[in-house]
Amino acid sequence: MAKPKVFATHSLFEAARQILQETCEVEYWAKPERPPREEVLRRLKDKEGLICLLTEKVNEELLKAAPKLRIAANVAVGFDNIDVAACTKRTVAATNTPGVLDETTADFAWTLMMAVARRLSEGEALARSGNWRHWDLDQLVGTDVWGKTLGIVGFGRIGRAVARRAAGFQMKVIYTDAVRAAEGTEEELKADFRDMNALLAESDFVSVHVPLLPETRGLFDAAKFQRMKPTAFLINTSRGPVVDEAALVAALEAGKIAGAGLDVYENEPFIHPGLKRANVVLAPHIASASLETRTKMACIAAENVVALFTGQRPPNMLNPEVLKTP
Ligand code: DGY
Repeated sequence: MAKPKVFATHSLFEAARQILQETCEVEYWAKPERPPREEVLRRLKDKEGLICLLTEKVNEELLKAAPKLRIAANVAVGFDNIDVAACTKRTVAATNTPGVLDETTADFAWTLMMAVARRLSEGEALARSGNWRHWDLDQLVGTDVWGKTLGIVGFGRIGRAVARRAAGFQMKVIYTDAVRAAEGTEEELKADFRDMNALLAESDFVSVHVPLLPETRGLFDAAKFQRMKPTAFLINTSRGPVVDEAALVAALEAGKIAGAGLDVYENEPFIHPGLKRANVVLAPHIASASLETRTKMACIAAENVVALFTGQRPPNMLNPEVLKTP
């Protein structure tokens, strides 16, 4: 029997390719640059499966170009690149990769927090420049992380993993979320609930962990920065459009906040020139980028695809209603 045809917009990792090989006939996009849109649409004409990255928009246009498509498997937990309702309408299963990247992403939120507080980018540039002349008492003095107040916006799996790490730094942890966590969770993580305004006023570090939704787009606007302490830092490893970048630049320029650590941007890969300043640490959307975690993400996407084509329910369906029977 012919195997279902799948297009993967990346060559993935060997472990994921092995998962796919028995069940599917996979065409891999193997070039280092991302595939042009027309190429994706062209290749999907005869495909029943798509494995894509967050750089591909799975929308009405793509679905129309792929009449045989039965699954779009995102290699990411965030799925703002997927129009799930449009997939559902065409009975295309949409899947993501939850769970495996929480700890790795939390590590990176901490990396940014430590780097911006302790001025690592500036220190590294000086150390490499050949211009470091001597040790000095007030050279590149930053701010302590330990003992400060960490405010977590969005208390899902990643937000909680960030909170867990704060114990070792003797920090006070506060959080805000649309839904308050269970008492047991608050006790276990020693995290106290605050409403957004109280959290902004109290935190020395504000770390953002909300998904991009219509209600979180532009969540961090001028009014929010106005409420933060002038000594506080914003850390964003969620999605760029959660922060109004022009407002952030204005807040940094006016000294409304002390700095920022950013992994994500409003219009990736474009980075607002006003963010390229000494008190902002910039990373190119790599919070989940450990080899272990990225391999697991690719494997999960492969497993979702194989499950569908072997008559099982993919474990990470975003639109479970598409498959009526379990
Ligand atoms: C995701 O999975 O949503 C990240 O942004 C990339 O790991």
